[in-house]
Amino acid sequence: MRASRMSAGWQIFALPAAVSSLTDANFYGQSPPVYPSPQGKGSGTWAGAYVNARDLVDQMTLDEKVNITRGFTSSDNVCAGNSGSVPRLQWPGMCLHDAGNGVRATDMVNAYASGIHVGASWDRNLTYQRGYFMGKEFKDKGVNVALGPNAGPLGRIPLGGRNWEGFSVDPYLAGQLVAETIVGHQDAGAIANLKHFVGNEQETLRRPYHGVEAASTNIDDKTMHELYAWPFMDGVHAGVGSIMCSYNRVNNSYGCQNSKLMNGILKTELSFDGFVVADWNGQHSGVGSALAGLDMVMPLGGYWGDNLTEAVRNGSVPESRVADMANRYDTTDFATPGFGMKNLTEPHEAVDARDPQSKPIILEGAIAGHVLVKNENSTLPFKKPPKMISIYGYDATVPATKNTDILFQLGYNVQPEMAQAVLGTEGVRFDQAAKGGTIVTGGRAAANSPAYINDPLSALSQRAALDDTWVNWDLTSFNPDVNGASEACLVFINAMATEGWDRIGLHDDFSDGLVLNVAAKCSNTIVVIHAAGIRLVDQWIDHPNVTATIIAHLPGQDSGQALVKLLYGEAGFSGKLPYTLARNESDYHPYLPCNRTPDDYFPQCDFTEGVYIDYRDFDARNTTPRFEFGFGLSYTSFEYSSLSVDVSDLSPTTCRSGDNEIWDIVANVQATVTNTGSVEGAEVAQLYLAIPNSPPKQLRGFDKVALDPEESAPVTFELTRRDFSVWDVVTQKWQIQEGDYTIFVGASSRDIRLTHNLKI
Ligand SMILES: *[C@@H]1O[C@H](CO)[C@@H](O)[C@H](O)[C@H]1NC(C)=O
Ligand SMILES: *[C@@H]1O[C@H](CO)[C@@H](O)[C@H](O)[C@H]1NC(C)=O
Ligand SMILES: *[C@@H]1O[C@H](CO)[C@@H](O)[C@H](O)[C@H]1NC(C)=O
Ligand SMILES: *[C@@H]1O[C@H](CO)[C@@H](O)[C@H](O)[C@H]1NC(C)=O
Ligand SMILES: *[C@@H]1O[C@H](CO)[C@@H](O)[C@H](O)[C@H]1NC(C)=O
Ligand SMILES: *[C@@H]1O[C@H](CO)[C@@H](O)[C@H](O)[C@H]1NC(C)=O
Ligand SMILES: *[C@@H]1O[C@H](CO)[C@@H](O)[C@H](O)[C@H]1NC(C)=O
Ligand SMILES: *[C@@H]1O[C@H](CO)[C@@H](O)[C@H](O)[C@H]1NC(C)=O
Ligand SMILES: *[C@@H]1O[C@H](CO)[C@@H](O)[C@H](O)[C@H]1NC(C)=O
Repeated sequence: MRASRMSAGWQIFALPAAVSSLTDANFYGQSPPVYPSPQGKGSGTWAGAYVNARDLVDQMTLDEKVNITRGFTSSDNVCAGNSGSVPRLQWPGMCLHDAGNGVRATDMVNAYASGIHVGASWDRNLTYQRGYFMGKEFKDKGVNVALGPNAGPLGRIPLGGRNWEGFSVDPYLAGQLVAETIVGHQDAGAIANLKHFVGNEQETLRRPYHGVEAASTNIDDKTMHELYAWPFMDGVHAGVGSIMCSYNRVNNSYGCQNSKLMNGILKTELSFDGFVVADWNGQHSGVGSALAGLDMVMPLGGYWGDNLTEAVRNGSVPESRVADMANRYDTTDFATPGFGMKNLTEPHEAVDARDPQSKPIILEGAIAGHVLVKNENSTLPFKKPPKMISIYGYDATVPATKNTDILFQLGYNVQPEMAQAVLGTEGVRFDQAAKGGTIVTGGRAAANSPAYINDPLSALSQRAALDDTWVNWDLTSFNPDVNGASEACLVFINAMATEGWDRIGLHDDFSDGLVLNVAAKCSNTIVVIHAAGIRLVDQWIDHPNVTATIIAHLPGQDSGQALVKLLYGEAGFSGKLPYTLARNESDYHPYLPCNRTPDDYFPQCDFTEGVYIDYRDFDARNTTPRFEFGFGLSYTSFEYSSLSVDVSDLSPTTCRSGDNEIWDIVANVQATVTNTGSVEGAEVAQLYLAIPNSPPKQLRGFDKVALDPEESAPVTFELTRRDFSVWDVVTQKWQIQEGDYTIFVGASSRDIRLTHNLKI
C-alpha cells in the first residue's frame, strides 16, 4: 500500500488504524515540497490591480486580512461563495459564482452553448464573443468572479462526468479557447477562474468520504507540462485573475495543499500573480494549505478563519503570506456583490442581465458546434421543404418542468435516477441518456437555467407551418409506427453527463434500439445526438437507412433553431470533433475511471499512459477510429494548396516556462483553402506537428475561414517556441530538440492535405 504524503507540520487527516505501512516512502507519486510561497509581483497587466490592492491591504489589520481569505454565508444573495468584507474600509468583498454555460441558479440570463460545443466550433472569435457577453452577464448580476472556464478535466477518460465543461481533450485547442474565454470574461469586467488545477480527470473518488482519501492522480512531470498543465499555462499567459485548485490529490498530496502545484508550478514557474481558491470544501489543512500557496477558502472558513489569525500569531504562517493572499485579489471597480443574485423563491426584482447584442452570438454559437459525421448521398440539407417528416425520441422536446429545486443543483434536465443519485452519495455512476427531454447543457456546476429552450420539435413545427410540411411525432415509443410517406425520419437521442458522477458507458441500448427500429421502417433516417461527451454510433452508423448523423453536442437555449437552419441549408456545418469518436469503448486507453479495492484507503490513479490519450494514443497504436479527432463534414468541399513555411530563429534551444521567449513566434505557416463546392461554407484548417520522441501528431494550430463557392483564402498558423518544444525534466525547461519535424496541414487529424519536413 502506498501512503499519503506526510511531512511534518501539515499532516491533514487521521489515518484509519488499518493503515500501517506508511514508512515506504519510495513510491511513484510523491509530491516534492516547494517552499516558501512566492509573493505576487504584480507585473505586466497586473500592475494596476496590485497597486490598488496593496494600498487597501496595507490599511487592513490582520483580522481583516484573514477575514477576506474565507467565505461567509449571505442572506442577501445565492452566490456560490461570498468572501469576507472589510466594512471599516468599505471593501464589500466578492461574490464568486458558477459558471460554464452562463450565470447559474438565477433568472433573466442566457444559456450559452457548453464548453464541448464551443470546442467543436474551433472558432476563436466566437469563443471570445461568448466569453465577453457571458462575462457581462456575471458582472451585471453582481458576480465578481465567474467560476470558469474549465480546462481540467482535460478528458483523459471518455467516461468523465465533467469532460463537456471543457473545450477539448487536446491541450492546444483547450488552451487557445480557454485564453479567448478568459480575455472575454475579463474585458467585460468579471474575473475569470480557470479550473480545476489539476488532474481532476474523473468524478469517481474525487473527494474523500468514509475515511477513504480522494483518488491520487499520479502524473509524471513531462505529462504534467505537455498535457495537463498546458492549457493552464495559456490561461496564466492570458492574464487569468484566479485559478481553482482541485478536489483530487496529485502525487498523494491534496490539490489545495500541494506546494509543488501552487508554489511551484503556478506561482514560481508560471509567475501566476492572481489568487488560488479552493474548490468548495476542498481544503484539508490550515497551516499546510496556507504555506503551500492557497489564497482563499470557500464556501465558509474551512480550516482558516480565526485559526489562521492564531497561526500567524504563533509563528506557523508568516503574516506576509496572508498579506500576499489579499494582494492577489483584484479589488478595483466592485459593484455590490451579488445584487442581482436573489433567492428566486422570495419576492425580488428580476435583474435582466441579457444584452440584446448577445443574441446573434448565442445562435451562431449554437450552430457552430454541430458536427455532421454522415451525410449519405447528400441527404442534407433538404433540397426542398419535405412534404412529410416524422420525429422520434425523448430528446426532441422540452422537459416537463424548468423551475424546480433540482434545477439549481443540476441544470434543468435530469432523469429521476440522476436526481436520486445527486441527492444520495457521490460516486455512483448513472445511465447516459437523459430521457426527460432534450438537453442543451450537462449537469450541475457548469449548467444554468436557460431563458427559454427552443427545442427541436417546436422549431421544426414552426418551420413546417411555413412550408405546409406534415409533421408526425412519437416521442415515447421504442418501436414507433412510421408513416410510409415520410420523406425524412428524425430520431433525437442524447448522452447526459454531470458533475459528481462518471458515465457508465458511451451509448445506451434504449436509444440505439430506437434508432434501429426507426431505420428498419424508414429509408431516410437522420439521427441527431445531443451529447455531453463522447457518444458511440457503431451500433447503427452503417445501417443503409441511416442516411445522416449529427453530433449536436450541447447547443444552449437556441438548440432547435440552430438545427433547423442546418437541416434546411440556411446555415452550413462547420464544426469538427474536439475528440476521437471510437468504434468501441475498448479502443480508448484508458477507458474506465480508476477505482479502489475495499481495504484501500488511498486510491491511486497512475497516469502511466503519459501524453498518449485520445488521438495521440489512437495514432501511436494505429487504432482506426470511427471518426477521428478534428473530423466533420460540410455541405461543400475544400481544397488545400500552396503550403509555405517561414521559419525564424528555430534552433535547438531551451526556455523556462516563465520566459517571454517561450511565446515568440518561430514559424509562420500559410496555406490556401479553396471552396470547390457549390455553396458557401466555413472550413477549420488544422496544423499538426510531428516532434521527435513524441506522439506521431500533435495539434499546434487551427484557422477557420468562411468561403463562398470558388473563393480562396489564406489560412495562417503562428507557431511559438513552446509549440516545437518538449518538457525536459532534468533542466526543468522547454527544449527544442535537434532532429526531423513534420508539419501537417489538413482537414482533420487523419485527412492531411499538405506536409512539410523540417530539420532543426
Ligand atoms: C509527481 O511525481 C513525479 C515522479 O513520480 C514527478 O515527476 C512530478 O514532478 C510530481 N508532481 C507533483 C505535482 O508532485
Ligand atoms: C468579515 O466579513 C463579514 C462578511 O462580509 C463581515 O460581516 C464582518 O464584519 C467582517 N469582519 C471584519 C473584522 O471586518
Ligand atoms: C468576430 O465575430 C463578430 C460576431 O460574430 C463579428 O462581428 C466580427 O466581425 C468577427 N471578427 C473577426 C475578426 O472575425
Ligand atoms: C479551525 O480549526 C478547527 C480544528 O482544526 C476546525 O474544526 C475549524 O473548522 C477551523 N475553522 C475555523 C473557521 O475556525
Ligand atoms: C498555531 O496555530 C495553528 C492554528 O490554530 C495550529 O494549527 C498550530 O498547531 C499552532 N502551532 C503552534 C506551534 O502552536
Ligand atoms: C430561498 O429561500 C427559501 C425560503 O424562502 C429557502 O428555503 C431556500 O433554502 C433559499 N434558497 C437558497 C439557495 O438560499
Ligand atoms: C446512394 O447513391 C448510391 C449510388 O447512386 C446508391 O447505390 C445508394 O443506394 C444510395 N443510398 C441511399 C441511402 O440512398
Ligand atoms: C429501409 O427502409 C425500408 C422502408 O423504406 C425497408 O423496407 C427496408 O427493409 C429498410 N432496410 C433495412 C436494412 O432495414
Ligand atoms: C467493446 O468494448 C466493451 C467495453 O470495454 C467490451 O466489453 C467489448 O468486448 C468490446 N467489443 C469489441 C468488439 O471489442
